[in-house]
Amino acid sequence: MTRKSYLDKPYRALLMNLAGAEVFSSPSDKTTIGRKLLEENPNHSGSLGIGMTEAMEFLDEKESARLALGCMSYYAALHQTIIGLEVRKQVEIIGDEPDVMIACVGGGTNFMGFVAPFLVDRVNGKNRIEFIAVESSNIPVLTKGTYRYDFQDFAGMTPKVKMYTLGHEFVPDPIHSGGLRYHGKSPILSLLFDHGHLKATAVGQEEAFAAGRLFFGHEGILPAPETNHAIAQTIREVHRAMAEGVKRNIYFCFSGMGYLDLKNYADTLQRGT
Ligand SMILES: Cc1ncc(COP(=O)(O)O)c(C=O)c1O
Repeated sequence: MTRKSYLDKPYRALLMNLAGAEVFSSPSDKTTIGRKLLEENPNHSGSLGIGMTEAMEFLDEKESARLALGCMSYYAALHQTIIGLEVRKQVEIIGDEPDVMIACVGGGTNFMGFVAPFLVDRVNGKNRIEFIAVESSNIPVLTKGTYRYDFQDFAGMTPKVKMYTLGHEFVPDPIHSGGLRYHGKSPILSLLFDHGHLKATAVGQEEAFAAGRLFFGHEGILPAPETNHAIAQTIREVHRAMAEGVKRNIYFCFSGMGYLDLKNYADTLQRGT
């Protein structure tokens, strides 16, 4: 678990402990790369790319170990299409049709899962839905990165894939949304973005948390910091529709609960954001 999240979200690690897992803060003293990074900076905040390198190194050393990369893999995106399939079913039942679909993007899996069933129809010219991927403005991979072959992990132990990237050695600012702190985006999302089938936008931390708090005030449900980025963009889209005087059905993906991220909310309250 990246060090920033390990320190800020102790109950997420505890949940994994309860399920029988041992959880290490990354960079850790368990791997060569982790020790090197800690030597350079004992307070290193870590990143998803560094976590991947450490997992690869661990895998190399322990024959019985197996690795399932979550963040940007095809199989994780495929698994999450259950979200989009359920949304499509609900849309059919209520007789509605989305005009805009929004989700936050770290590696890109919840976004891909949410929009995939609808995106297939758009690619085949059967709908005109606007798909908006929302990243953190601290990690502007789609909005400012380049489309090229790059390593998925920090030290270059994984195969290279073609994706939008800020470079595999990019270490993101220690923002509260640990799940968005990844230097690249999944190859399938990158390809679809490059072909113009979806849009990307970036939201800053303060706007994201303000949106999360507004949502909590109205709905009584606390979103995860990552999810707040999708909510902030949804609010922007509502304002755009109002300014244009049009009615639009705007759907967003509620990617996670924030009850284990209360320290992040406490920190933002202390800063007065
Ligand atoms: C609640 C939540 N939403 C979104 C993400 C972003 O990941 P992805 O883009 O792979 O869906 C994460 C990642 O950890 C997360 O925890």
